[in-house]
Formats: sequence, structure tokens, C-alpha cells
Amino acid sequence: MREHLFGRHLSVAALSTLLGLSLPGAPVRAQGLDGQDMETALRLAAMLQSARSVISSSQDLINDPKVGDKGLTGDHVLELAIRAYVEANGTAPLHDGQDPREARLIAAQMEAIRQVMDANQETINADGIGFKGFVPAVFGRLVNESFATLVGAEARIKVTAPPDLVRNRKALPDAWEASIITADLMSPDWPQGKVYAELSETGGKPAYRVLVPEYYGKGCLSCHGEPAGEIDITGYPKEGGHEGDLGGVISISLFR
Ligand code: HEC
Repeated sequence: MREHLFGRHLSVAALSTLLGLSLPGAPVRAQGLDGQDMETALRLAAMLQSARSVISSSQDLINDPKVGDKGLTGDHVLELAIRAYVEANGTAPLHDGQDPREARLIAAQMEAIRQVMDANQETINADGIGFKGFVPAVFGRLVNESFATLVGAEARIKVTAPPDLVRNRKALPDAWEASIITADLMSPDWPQGKVYAELSETGGKPAYRVLVPEYYGKGCLSCHGEPAGEIDITGYPKEGGHEGDLGGVISISLFR
């Protein structure tokens, strides 16, 4: 069972387009369980993106060697992430009438954000040190790891990438992800931002799986851009990427 849905901007407008039946060629069975799964997956992706954007706009502060306490506590970063989410999506991450599983998963994700920030205060507040390696991708990975611990067998969120771009082996795509990324998301015919979804399985368990593509912007290229092979500030060789290239994929699995 395959669905190809558009989700370029994870706004409420896009979500209602996704879940409504107005898109030509949209799957007709969008209001059922799969529709809720898709909505929940996109909201989890949007929350991760909002939280990463907070770490991204705090990079100069985080890497300022002259400031000790940065005030980037778990509570504060969560508050900023919620604000960013509301701005991008026009709705609060938790709200009345929300699907109960979605509320549970988003609440766990918010708790994961708080935990990761609280656990990294010493790194972030270290006096006299410039670049600290606490970049959005590292933060996002840690949040996804805490999320997995909090939700157990209910869901997974992972940021992966085209196989030849992967830096951290923990981000390596599994066989299913690798095949969809290379055959579909990287295909020149794949419309920018189009989300891939399929009722599939992972680890032997049935799961509704969603892949949200992410593309390099200018800000990514100091690390992932050219010249390929040059070592970036984080110690990894640059990938030689260009603006607009597929740089990564948020992979969400909702177990059935
Ligand atoms: C300051 C350097 C830096 C910048 C800027 C940067 N990244 Fe990364 N990126 C990294 C590092 C380091 C990792 C490995 C993180 C880890 O250890 O999990 C990474 C990992 C990733 C991953 C996870 C897969 C993997 O390779 O492990 C993706 C996807 C990614 N980056 C995309 C982006 C995108 C898109 C942008 C721009 C919005 C961006 N990065 C900006 C340094 C950077």
C-alpha cells in the first residue's frame, strides 16, 4: 500500500490539503487510520524541525567563548521550540481534541527536547571554549534517541540521509529507507518536498512509515558543501553538496 503525498511546508494549510481530498491524485482513503498516521508523522517531523531551528539560531550564542551561562535550559528551549512550531504551523503542538496517540507522542518529544538540553548544560555553558559541537544535527539525534526511550515500542523518529552522505553511522538508512531514498526521493522526477509514505514494517513489526525529505540551504554548506573532502569545523569531510540538493530525510515509523 503506497501513498505519495505532498507535504512541502508542514503547515496546517498543507496538512488540511493532505488530509482533505482536494489534491488531484490524492489518495481517496485519507480520513482513515492512515490519514491520522500521516498527520501525526508530519507533526512529529515539524516539531523536530522547530526544535532544531532554535538550536540553529542559537549557534552563535552556544559557541561564544565569552559567555558562561547561556540560559538555554530545557524549559527555555522547549518554550522557544513551541513558539517556532506555532509560527510555522499555525497551531499549538498540543491542543484540545487532538488524537490521543498523537498527543502522547508529541508530549514525549517535548520531554525529550527538555531532557537533552538539561543533560548538555555543562557543554553548552563551558567558559572559554568556542565551537562546542552542539550543532542542530547532533541535538536532533539526541532528541530522537531520548524520544525512543520515552515511547518504547510505539514509534521511532530518525534523521537519515542518502547513503553516500551519512556522517554518523547511527544515521545510516536501513534497507527500506535506502531503497526509497535512492529510487524515489533522489530521482530527478521526484517533486521537491514530496513526502513518501507506506504501510510497511521495520524490525519485523508492521509500521506506517513516512519519509520527509530535507534539502541543503545556504547555511548547511559551510559543513556539507564544497570543496568535497575538505574538513569542516566539526572535523568531518565536506560532502560537496549544493543548495537544493537532497541533504537528509526525517524518517518516522508509527508501529501498528
Ligand atoms: C557546523 C556544521 C554543520 C552544519 C552547518 C550543518 N550540519 Fe549537518 N551535520 C553536521 C554534523 C557534525 C553531523 C553529524 C551529527 C551526528 O553526529 O549525529 C551532521 C549530520 C547531518 C545529518 C544526519 C545524517 C548524518 O550524516 O549523520 C543530516 C541529514 C544533515 N546533517 C543535514 C544538514 C542540513 C540540511 C543542514 C542545513 C540546514 C546542515 N546539516 C547543517 C554538521 C553540520
